[in-house]
Amino acid sequence: MTQLDETGVPTSSSSEPSTMLTMLDALSADIGHTVFELGTGTGYNAALMSYRLGADRVTSVDVDPELVSLATRRLTEYGSLPHVTVGDGALGCPERAPFDRIIATAALRTIHPALLGQARVGTVIVAPIGFGIARVIVTAPHHASGRFLATPAFFMPRRRPGRTPDFETVREQDPESTSVPVSEVLDRLRFPLSLALPGFNSCTWRNNDGALTGIGLWTEDGSTVATHVNGHVRQTGPRRLWDTVENLSGLFPEAPRREDFGITITPDDQCVWYREPKGASWRLSPG
Ligand SMILES: C[S@@+](CC[C@H](N)C(=O)[O-])C[C@H]1O[C@@H](n2cnc3c(N)ncnc32)[C@H](O)[C@@H]1O
Repeated sequence: MTQLDETGVPTSSSSEPSTMLTMLDALSADIGHTVFELGTGTGYNAALMSYRLGADRVTSVDVDPELVSLATRRLTEYGSLPHVTVGDGALGCPERAPFDRIIATAALRTIHPALLGQARVGTVIVAPIGFGIARVIVTAPHHASGRFLATPAFFMPRRRPGRTPDFETVREQDPESTSVPVSEVLDRLRFPLSLALPGFNSCTWRNNDGALTGIGLWTEDGSTVATHVNGHVRQTGPRRLWDTVENLSGLFPEAPRREDFGITITPDDQCVWYREPKGASWRLSPG
């Protein structure tokens, strides 16, 4: 963690170095390429890219002015200052476009059309989506496709406001029964859940001996579910989140491999699929 907000919630972190290198490897940036980074953070990743490509080829944007100012100072001291600015990285940096490579180091819901508009045909985009890392290649203007890397990833979401879980109301609901083993859900289904319920949050409840007694799930629209390991489920809010869990549980009796998921982007739609584009799929939405 490299930054906390006034309530102590982490707002910036340095990514795990091995994940950072896996993403840079997937980016396959080469001499002569221009790169755009969403999420400057500490500036470390921007420094690595500047070292490889030359600072004048690297553009990095962070939404947080304090982080940008610190990163600029560090990169200046390091002696290689790329173009670093404050802004919503989802919108790219039109005055520096087009880019040959685009990397996001904060989790995205979709690849914003503005960012796609700043890519060339052949541009590689590497971005965390859900709890995975997607690598897509732009095949035509505003069209791209690719696959997820095998590496798990738990990136900070691109910042946005959200509702807190409503455990008070959920407690008052009549319980339904589920045949999905509650204790397995967060291990077995975490990745597909992150695609089907973008931005979902979870918590676990344990007894005094540390044994799991239940899990809670919620999304930013206020939908909340509380479960008990005895198979009781209580739900509230605009969406019935456990229905999605039941559905995914039927589809994935074992935890699926991230690399079996792909992503297709067209001007009208962004969609993640399992095994083949015509397989089970989930429509991504900007949220
Ligand atoms: C995992 S950190 C980035 C790590 C960074 N690449 C490094 O080398 O230290 C994620 C960063 O994304 C930034 N971020 C979140 N939402 C953003 C947005 N909409 N546009 C640009 N940056 C954003 C956060 O402020 C945070 O610094």
